[in-house]
Amino acid sequence: MKITEKITWVGKTDWELKKFHGDEFTTVNGSSYNSYLIRDKKTVLIDTAWLPYDKEFVSNLKKEIDLNKIDAVIALHGEIDHSGALTELMREMPENTPIYCTANGVKSIKGQYHKDWNFQIVKTGDKLELGESTLTFIEAPMLHWPDTMFAYMDKENVLFSSDGFGQHLASEFLYADEVDQDVLYAEALKYYANILAPFGMIATKKINDILAMNLPINMICPSHGLIWRKDPTQIVTKYLEWANNYQENQITIIYDTMWNDTRKMAEAIARGIQNKDKEVTVKILNTAKNDKTDVLTEVFKSKMILVGSPTVNNGYLHSIAGILEMIKGMKLKNKKAAAFGSYGWSGEAVKQITEYLKTSGFDVVNEGIRCMWTPDKDMEKELEEFGKGLV
Ligand code: FEO
Repeated sequence: MKITEKITWVGKTDWELKKFHGDEFTTVNGSSYNSYLIRDKKTVLIDTAWLPYDKEFVSNLKKEIDLNKIDAVIALHGEIDHSGALTELMREMPENTPIYCTANGVKSIKGQYHKDWNFQIVKTGDKLELGESTLTFIEAPMLHWPDTMFAYMDKENVLFSSDGFGQHLASEFLYADEVDQDVLYAEALKYYANILAPFGMIATKKINDILAMNLPINMICPSHGLIWRKDPTQIVTKYLEWANNYQENQITIIYDTMWNDTRKMAEAIARGIQNKDKEVTVKILNTAKNDKTDVLTEVFKSKMILVGSPTVNNGYLHSIAGILEMIKGMKLKNKKAAAFGSYGWSGEAVKQITEYLKTSGFDVVNEGIRCMWTPDKDMEKELEEFGKGLV
């Protein structure tokens, strides 16, 4: 599909993708692996597609262009969802076709495919003359791999932003302004929260560096999802907001439960919060039943989280252990937290969760609340007061 006279989208829309990064990230709306063919005096291909689609990708590309006419491949990022078709592609292209990437890109691509292709290492500011247009490379390490870079094409004024500004969203359309904006932004936020959140400070600096270059930007072409065409920097503004210790007026209660006692605690605490503050959004999520990607997105949006588990075998339940590990990896700042949980005898879980939250960078507001056995009326009142106190 043509984007401009010189740029054609030659990617793969993956309608059936439901899990990404193994089973870590749910992609309920599918995704796309965006690849872009630029035809100027030189012809270059930006990125490929995920490995299972390698033959399909190359076969489709051959319908678009004689592979011998491609002067260079640009690998903005070595992750397999974008480099997966390289082996198949290079098998059919002249073996000395240059692959432009960062020094870390060579490491990640070689590390995965074990090939000595003709790598051409580029750094920020390096240029590739295409004819009428020029591509300028901008390293973007840790957004989200060390090898990531962006590329800016002048004259067309297009920023190829790799995973940045992307969404896992399969669509029959190419452009962000053509799809449901709520779905678009929900997926963009989910992507940011689950993949880029740990690198907020790096994202802010890189975005400000690019803004300082005063480049005219007509389009932002990410490597997943829709292309930002109408007011393209709207997503840049959103990223700056998300990267700045983002929070909404939301308290998220996450818990797991065996015989519903910790669930009853969660709901009583929620009642207390809601009775005290009608404005605050309270979300209650059972980590064993809810999608973990959505749980992390809700945590990202929150000003405070509460984490609850009963004590089992002197510890806490595995879904809580898993989600705590994922939350820790998000490296969130400026968020408050507290723990709660039921127990029958030893009751260590609340203290352990509290400690975990502290080491994960949360401002833990109290030592948490425990309930021995099932909450009775008095305990429910105490839990409601606990919720009010949090407000
Ligand atoms: Fe979409 Fe980090 O690869």
